[in-house]
Amino acid sequence: MTPTSTEALRDLVASSLVAARERTQLLTGCVDDTDLTRQHSPLMSPLVWDLAHVANQEELWLLRSVGGREPMHPEIDPLYDAFEHPRAERPTLPLLPPAEARAYAHEVRGRVLDLVERATFSGTRLLTGAFAFGMIAQHEQQHDETMLITHQLRKGAPVLSAPPPPPPPADALSLPREVLVPGGPFTMGTSTHPWALDNERPAHTVAVPGFYLDTTPVTNAAYTEFIADGGYDNPRWWSPAGWDHRQRVGLVAPLFWRRDGGGWVRTRFGLTEQPPPAEPVLHVSWYEAQAYAAWAGRRLPTEAEWEKAARHDPATGRSRSFPWGEEDPGPDRANLGQRHLQPAPAGSYPLGAAPSGARQLAGDVWEWTSSDFLPYPGFTAWPYREYSEVFFGSEYKVLRGGAFGVAPVVGRTTFRNWDYPIRRQIFAGFRTARDAEPAVSGPGA
Ligand SMILES: [Fe+2]
Repeated sequence: MTPTSTEALRDLVASSLVAARERTQLLTGCVDDTDLTRQHSPLMSPLVWDLAHVANQEELWLLRSVGGREPMHPEIDPLYDAFEHPRAERPTLPLLPPAEARAYAHEVRGRVLDLVERATFSGTRLLTGAFAFGMIAQHEQQHDETMLITHQLRKGAPVLSAPPPPPPPADALSLPREVLVPGGPFTMGTSTHPWALDNERPAHTVAVPGFYLDTTPVTNAAYTEFIADGGYDNPRWWSPAGWDHRQRVGLVAPLFWRRDGGGWVRTRFGLTEQPPPAEPVLHVSWYEAQAYAAWAGRRLPTEAEWEKAARHDPATGRSRSFPWGEEDPGPDRANLGQRHLQPAPAGSYPLGAAPSGARQLAGDVWEWTSSDFLPYPGFTAWPYREYSEVFFGSEYKVLRGGAFGVAPVVGRTTFRNWDYPIRRQIFAGFRTARDAEPAVSGPGA
């Protein structure tokens, strides 16, 4: 994704904005006004807040900052400032009702598309490579993912539907359990991707010792063994903070799972079903992922290990934009873009494999890494401190790789997500790693 001509950039901007809006309309059009204005969980905003917030950010960055226009409704700006009002408080605000929120979003978008027609995508840093437009398309898609989480938390009959992911390929059951990522330096982050956000920058060299990584994310079947083996009841596997949390809130299984006879069922977008054994496990916290890894005699990968496994090509020494190379994600390579409402079975998407042989590093489930969310060496906040800088620190753990509800425009291997280690409503799973054995030396070796 690096169009060079103005015409190609214009097409990319328009199609990225349209794709985001279609998804927003799908997620807000399938429920009635009562549902749109209700708060389905204190963790989430009412859907109608996301809708107008997306439009407000689009107006702020594209119409005002890029286009130099006057504010359309300055009195509503504070309502949709995510830093002024925490999510739990948003239902109490005098928010735009659904019809007005839709009209506002429609009006902003019409003016933005006029701007796109005349933009040259040069002259200022916001315009270069259409960065501000890419940032806004990604922002809307990230809120679409947030709205999809709200749908998952929403009680009631299903309102979303999608075809199941394709069945796994014939070799899915015979894949090696883990792949070797040989030691050595690689290029982490990017200085060149025009739509990369500040926390992905700059590119820098990181030395990563050899390690083994699970070929696929950990499955429901494997996770169920951890539960059955008493994994939730043995403090030995848990970090002190994780055990404390497990005790305090009574964790016994992933979020949305409950006991059903001798087994488990889970609820997914209003449907209750047995967790498909081959599907990557979802809705586990970082603490649970860490405990599972310890139980399995392994550990979570670091963020640098994860990124190296996902994009380093030992044949060329270069880092790729996607595990398979530079081509944009398509339905044959990754489960992205809410085409399905669940992860694909472990071992799917052989065409999306990384050079290491690991599969599903893009899409399916966000993957917890062991790493805190920290700036790369040489980081500078752009275009505003609140995008990432205010979140840096040990409070947040990094997730990588995107999930089935993540848009392709956000699916690049440098993209960084972060959340608290207790969070479970997000579409998060994980895979495990271990150090490569040190080389054997001795007589005859
Ligand atoms: Fe936002």
